[in-house]
Amino acid sequence: MAHDGETYRHWRMEEDDDRIVWLTFDRAEKSVNALCREVLEELDRVLDDISRRSPAGVVFRSGKKSGFIAGADITEFTGLADSAAALALIERGQAILGRIELLAAPTVSLIHGFCLGGGLELALACRYRIAADIPATQLGLPEVKLGIHPGFGGTVRLTRLIGPLAAMDLILTGRNVDARKARKIGLVDYAVPERHLENAARATILHAPFPVKPGFLPALCSTWFMRPLLAGYLRRTVARRAAKKHYPAPYAVIDLWERFGGNAAAMFREEAGSVANLITGDSARNLVRVFLLQERLKSLGRRGASEPCSIHVVGGGTMGGDIAAWCALQGLRVSVQDVDAARLANVVKRAATLFRKNLRDPRLAEAALDRLIPDIKGDGIARADIVIEAIFEDAAAKRELYRQCEPRMRGDALLATNTSSIPLEELAEALEHPERLVGLHFFNPVAKMQLVEVVRGAKTQQEAVDTATAFAGAIRRLPLPVASSPGFLVNRTLMPYLLEAVIMETEGIPAAEIDRAAVDFGMPMGPLLLADTVGLDICLSVARILSRHFAVEIPTRLEELVAAGHLGRKSGQGFYTYEGQKQVATEARNGRGTSGGIVERLILRLLNEAVACRRAGVVADADLVDAGMVFGTGFAPFRGGPLHYARAEGAAAIHGRLTALAERYGSRFTPDIGWEEILTDAEGKT
Ligand code: COA
Repeated sequence: MAHDGETYRHWRMEEDDDRIVWLTFDRAEKSVNALCREVLEELDRVLDDISRRSPAGVVFRSGKKSGFIAGADITEFTGLADSAAALALIERGQAILGRIELLAAPTVSLIHGFCLGGGLELALACRYRIAADIPATQLGLPEVKLGIHPGFGGTVRLTRLIGPLAAMDLILTGRNVDARKARKIGLVDYAVPERHLENAARATILHAPFPVKPGFLPALCSTWFMRPLLAGYLRRTVARRAAKKHYPAPYAVIDLWERFGGNAAAMFREEAGSVANLITGDSARNLVRVFLLQERLKSLGRRGASEPCSIHVVGGGTMGGDIAAWCALQGLRVSVQDVDAARLANVVKRAATLFRKNLRDPRLAEAALDRLIPDIKGDGIARADIVIEAIFEDAAAKRELYRQCEPRMRGDALLATNTSSIPLEELAEALEHPERLVGLHFFNPVAKMQLVEVVRGAKTQQEAVDTATAFAGAIRRLPLPVASSPGFLVNRTLMPYLLEAVIMETEGIPAAEIDRAAVDFGMPMGPLLLADTVGLDICLSVARILSRHFAVEIPTRLEELVAAGHLGRKSGQGFYTYEGQKQVATEARNGRGTSGGIVERLILRLLNEAVACRRAGVVADADLVDAGMVFGTGFAPFRGGPLHYARAEGAAAIHGRLTALAERYGSRFTPDIGWEEILTDAEGKT
């Protein structure tokens, strides 16, 4: 292959004997390809170069093993001062990708690994797309998850290529598809084994087949009289998942298509304007913030110690069983111990469902099941790199278990407890080697909640913390380092919010109304339904542990429900009634409180406790409080986390509202002294 002409920092250009230009994107000094300003400007010069050469064809490919292109460079979003600056950047990106489409020679994108956002938009500007048929190949437009929508021409080219319904499905959900699915919906022309990629590209360029075109039905859906009908349907579908006031992006893209779907030039123009507006709005700024927080936790998980490969879990309840299944799904060998054989059978049954859902290939699902070993006698303890204890929340029972386990463990193995609120010092007493005890607090459901609190006790060695953190990263969870104080970060901050909901329900405000107010604020589930789902006995136990250390009043109503055996979803009755796992529908009646009043009481208690955790150093800084609450509880991501929300609303205003609530309802609303620091910071900035 000839290599001549200009040299570039991020792109490599080679021309072969067939006069095909192979253009490799290999972003300098980064592990992942993303389209930053500098990369795009360089691409513009590369395209000048290519036009001068008049090649037989151009192949775009990636020099990174990890994948093709991860999209526009998200880190540049935060530097956009206003929507005019955003518009200039987006229009420039559109224009450069537009030049690919206008090249006279046939163009092909060779896709392996992830091909997301702006990366897929670049591929869409090519005449053909060929994807490696491997599990790592994932194509998608995840922009809505960042509060925006495709802006480099993706809304126009994708609807044209695969029809508006399939295109809107990808754009509005932000979901990825693998190579085969992409082939099926016409997103790529061919899905081929990885070793055939180059040959497939060469053959495509030399034979230049007619590109795939959508059929009659997609064309019909794009007509002026069908678009309003379909747009209405799409809006109703989106409304079931996301409210417009919190997540404007999907609604903006539907509007865009409805109004301009018949006119490509107008749609390019309006697409850029729409993204420029969204990207500088609160929702997108906060969702980008959440993405960057996630990257911060991910990078903690990548640091340090070697990855463990053999795990033993003690306790085959919901948490123990789900932790074991998740580890096996991630490729680790796991033994799971419980005295009750029926419970172990249930663990395996639930795991089989998880494997089937996540690993579509039945052989892979079977291999995962082979890695999960039910172990009544605990033989796996002696082999394990990490023993995870996940029995019920009783300090004495845990200590007794440790006395039995420790002598059977390898000298270099780690003991991790999944306790949700007991300080490690209370448990470490039972151990010869307390330096090996660490907390690994997973959240329910394990497969969905990304956070794991990694708890360091007074005697825990740094090495043990590092191993536990790397383990959480290796099993694709987000490790959050927390101090060993009661309830750690998440349960301590969440509990006042849950208890305030119980108090309001006792006052006569209907449960459904309280929950609806929280969901309306942006929580994924109302506090009372959450309490029912977690189990009221578990909530009560956490509340009792917290009440031994902090001024937490436990509402009598919670004690009474538990005493009566009403434990929530699992017993069929809690704040709501259930038939099997399904909630029996309840109509929200008009209660005494207004929705605004309900939200204020709920959220301000949560914010106050978040401030207390920050002040007490439960985590290292305010961003980690926000990350913990978003990834551990689903706290309204478009608000950027509780402390960020408090700052955005104005710390002084929130402090004032807390003081007023304390006068009306009592000391549980008294502002924590941690607010002083936030107020001083805020004053310094004004
Ligand atoms: N812009 C800037 N940086 C990006 C990026 C993007 N779109 N996508 C990934 N990165 C960076 C990460 O910040 C990280 O940087 P670091 O090494 O300095 O910490 C690095 O690439 C690796 O990413 P990471 O998320 O840790 O790797 P992963 O293998 O777990 O996931 C992706 C890879 C691409 C699936 C994931 O990063 C992702 O979803 N990225 C965002 C994709 C997106 O939303 N694109 C649309 C943008 S409009």
